[in-house]
Amino acid sequence: MKVTVFGIGYVGLVQAAVLAEVGHDVVCVDVNAERVENLKNGIIPIYEPGLTPLVQRNYDAGRLQFTTDAAFGVKHGRIQFIAVGTPPDEDGSADLQYVLAVAKTVATYMETPKIIVDKSTVPVGTADKVSACVAAVLAERGVAIGFDVVSNPEFLKEGAAVADCQRPDRIVIGTDSQAVENKMRELYAPFNRNHEKLIVMDVRSAELTKYAANCMLATKISFMNEMANLAEKLGADIEKVRQGIGSDPRIGYHFIYPGCGYGGSCFPKDVQALVRTAEKVGYVPALLKSVEAVNSRQKEKLFGHIQAYFDGDLKGKRIALWGLSFKPNTDDMRDASSRVLMESLWAAGAVVQAYDPEAMNETQRIYGTRSDLTLMGTKESALNGADALVVCTEWNAFKAPDFDLVKDSLTNAVIFDGRNLYDPDMLEEQGIAYYGIGRGRSVLSFA
Ligand SMILES: NC(=O)c1ccc[n+]([C@@H]2O[C@H](COP(=O)([O-])OP(=O)(O)OC[C@H]3O[C@@H](n4cnc5c(N)ncnc54)[C@H](O)[C@@H]3O)[C@@H](O)[C@H]2O)c1
Repeated sequence: MKVTVFGIGYVGLVQAAVLAEVGHDVVCVDVNAERVENLKNGIIPIYEPGLTPLVQRNYDAGRLQFTTDAAFGVKHGRIQFIAVGTPPDEDGSADLQYVLAVAKTVATYMETPKIIVDKSTVPVGTADKVSACVAAVLAERGVAIGFDVVSNPEFLKEGAAVADCQRPDRIVIGTDSQAVENKMRELYAPFNRNHEKLIVMDVRSAELTKYAANCMLATKISFMNEMANLAEKLGADIEKVRQGIGSDPRIGYHFIYPGCGYGGSCFPKDVQALVRTAEKVGYVPALLKSVEAVNSRQKEKLFGHIQAYFDGDLKGKRIALWGLSFKPNTDDMRDASSRVLMESLWAAGAVVQAYDPEAMNETQRIYGTRSDLTLMGTKESALNGADALVVCTEWNAFKAPDFDLVKDSLTNAVIFDGRNLYDPDMLEEQGIAYYGIGRGRSVLSFA
């Protein structure tokens, strides 16, 4: 099938490449000319495991094209995906300007009927806005061309985006039209062979499904962080508690890791956006507000521990930081906990020696050159002469370090573990002070 994807970011690029891989003929359109030019030269704008060869293979085969030419893109696909960003507006609502800009573009250039697919995460009612926008432009042009607007939210996880798109758990389609459902079934048939994955519903339910999924996951994390904070006060170890509750199949082990807060481009903004949506319809989303508040507080947690350990005097302290991306296997730093920590450390007069397997360029892009941040080439070199080690992201490379080397390299043998990667007893035996999240015994001194 001929498909066009507007927006070549984490979602658009992965979805486009995966669709091309099964044989669809995909054109990707982006307003970022540099990104498009780079892609044509084999330079992939994001780090995502498995993405580079997938893009290259399909580009070389001619099934995947990149362009800034919106008219060409609109002409190409019967199906037009909108996969542009929906960042938070000033009040936290999803900013729909990019989504509506694409809707306008499609309406401006379309000469034949189109199925317009909202792949971006958009508030309930957005499909109606996209429809109204397209209809208005067509009316201005004085033409009557058929179109449908479908909600097809994306559930991929950054860091596993290619695998998630190739083997989705579910494909949610929001439409009331049987003809449109049939077309979407045809598009996704290669991903729907093992068992039925399409869940077809009305548009508004599909739009809400995406927010409900992310808010549920964010709730699990904030719940565990709340338990972790209580464990600290009560002298319990949240890691024992986690295993104790995860063994109940009604709870399960997935997504109940405590830590230094969730970040990324989705959970923070989607929780906020659903809060605003709720308020606009006169509903007080008490739980969602708490989820957000607990998370904001949790992002300050590591700094609080470090500050307490150094008796509030961080001036001139050198902090080794392992992990900058908001989670492993991505270079995405949007709303990352590492940023909150670094900014607090800098404000308190500390300097940071940081290492991340993939997010160094992104860190450089965000913060530029500054005297209180040094990006180090290896995790080992980041330790040299530092007063403490802090772990912010649970990359595999950080899970089993050489603790003798850590101890020898630090001027002060202390680890602040924002992801509970290490065993407090083992570190104690090695003579390294350890402060995790919610590991009561080791943090009571801060109470
Ligand atoms: N990143 C994720 O893990 C993830 C997962 C599921 C859903 N989503 C949702 O998918 C959407 C896209 O997220 P992302 O992370 O891929 O964003 P992104 O910022 O990585 O990419 C968006 C792209 O859209 C382009 N763009 C903006 N306006 C455009 C226009 N008018 N025409 C063409 N291109 C345009 C930008 O230049 C950019 O390349 C968001 O709504 C997000 O919430 C993201």
